Order: sequence, then structure tokens, then C-alpha cells
Amino acid sequence: MFRKPSGLRYRRYLRQLHASAVFDWYLEVGCRNGLSFAPVRSKTIAVDPYFRIESNVINEKPAMLAFQQTSDDFFASGVLQQLGIRLDFAFLDGMHLFEYLLRDIINTEARMAPGGVIALHDCCPFDSGMTTRDLDNLPKDAWTGDVWKVLPILAQYRSDLQVTVLDCRPTGLVLVTGLDPENRVLQSNYDAIVADWSGVHIDGYGPDRFYDGFEYTDAGQNMAADFPQFAAVRKSPETIRKPEYATP
Ligand SMILES: C[S@@+](CC[C@H](N)C(=O)[O-])C[C@H]1O[C@@H](n2cnc3c(N)ncnc32)[C@H](O)[C@@H]1O
Repeated sequence: MFRKPSGLRYRRYLRQLHASAVFDWYLEVGCRNGLSFAPVRSKTIAVDPYFRIESNVINEKPAMLAFQQTSDDFFASGVLQQLGIRLDFAFLDGMHLFEYLLRDIINTEARMAPGGVIALHDCCPFDSGMTTRDLDNLPKDAWTGDVWKVLPILAQYRSDLQVTVLDCRPTGLVLVTGLDPENRVLQSNYDAIVADWSGVHIDGYGPDRFYDGFEYTDAGQNMAADFPQFAAVRKSPETIRKPEYATP
């Protein structure tokens, strides 16, 4: 049986996180209208091949770089290396096919700062239809694609990582910590993983088997406990830049 997340909405969790914490560099892959990174008060890198921004998403950010390209092209450009950027927090919410998310994780982990956090969206589908890989026939409501596969893949190949699955509505928010930029296990096994998992469907794999693989963490309690996964990278409030002039 599918176990539908029933906690805080993911945007509320992220909004509260950014209200209480600043990071050095924040990366978001898959941004659409920018509403999920609008509350970010950290230096921000936004990547999406099709931005649809219609509102002020810069707000209190001291710097923001936007790259209108796929995440594969963005990482291949080497811009993070050229600018010497290490990421404290990355929210990966781009193409919802597991091999894309796997590449985003591999490429992001390689540029993480010590103690950094990667968040993955939409890994907890609540029905089988929303897991489709058919890009020409996406569901009208939530589409998670098959990024759920990344959870059993990380459990198999990267048991060294800490994976916290928050019960954020509508489709979960996964926090990955204990990241190691030098680790090449996912990269070395990428072709085998894709071959093994491409033909797997949630119905054949079994929703029970998938959901037995982890326990949800209550997002509200995590927030009340002051976002423990982010303790190593959040900065003290006095480092937050205050506006130096009144806005009209
Ligand atoms: C679910 S939306 C992101 C929503 C946003 N993060 C939020 O929470 O409101 C997914 C986005 O991923 C973008 N996308 C699709 N393919 C991508 C790719 N290969 N690399 C990066 N982004 C991609 C789409 O253009 C779309 O804007």
C-alpha cells in the first residue's frame, strides 16, 4: 500500500528553514516560477531550462546566478569549479526521471561543502499513475515520475549516507547528509544502476516493499527541533545582510 505523506507542505517547511537559516551557497535544480527559492536569503544558484519567473524571487539574496539550461549542461560547464563554489544546501527538483536525479546527485555531491545537505523532492508517490515515465502523458495533478527509485538505490549503494524522509505533503522531502565529494561509488556504478532499474515499475517492485524501506520523519517536529540536519552549514543570524536603504 502507498503511504501518503501527511505532514507540513514542503514549501512551508522550506520557507521556515530559510526564515531561520542562511547558508553560504544554495543551489536549486528545477525552479519553474522560482517560488520555492524566493524565501532563500543565501547566495543562490538557480538552474532550469525553462524558467517561468513572474514575481520578485530575489528578495534578500546577496547574490543570485540563474542558468537557463539543463542541469547536465550546467554541471558539464564546470562553472562551479571555475568560481570555486562549494554548496551548503542543494534542492534537486528537476527532471523527474530517476537517472536524471541520480546524475544530479552525483554532480552535486562532488561540489558540496563539508556538512552540506542535499534535498530531493517527490520521492514518495501516493499512487502508481503519478510515477509514469511517459512524458507525453503526464498526470494532470502531481507527477513524481520514478525518482522514488533513488531511495532504494541509495540504500543499496550508499549506506554511508544519512537519509531522512520528511513526511512533507504532497510527495515527501528527502534530506541527504554525510555527503562525501570524493565518493565515486554512484558514478562508477551508474550504467549498471540504470540498466537494473530502467524497467522497474512501482507496481512490480511493490509499494509495500518501497515504503517498508524507510520510516517517515515528522517535518513539523524536525522544524520544532530547529532543522537538525542543517546544523553544520547554517550561519549565525548576525551574518544575515540587512537592507541598507528603505525600499520604495
Ligand atoms: C517540479 S518543477 C520545479 C518546481 C519548483 N522547485 C517548486 O518547488 O516550485 C520541475 C522543473 O524542472 C525543470 N526541468 C526539467 N528538465 C530539467 C533538467 N534536465 N534540468 C533542470 N531542470 C529541469 C522544469 O523546467 C521545471 O521547471
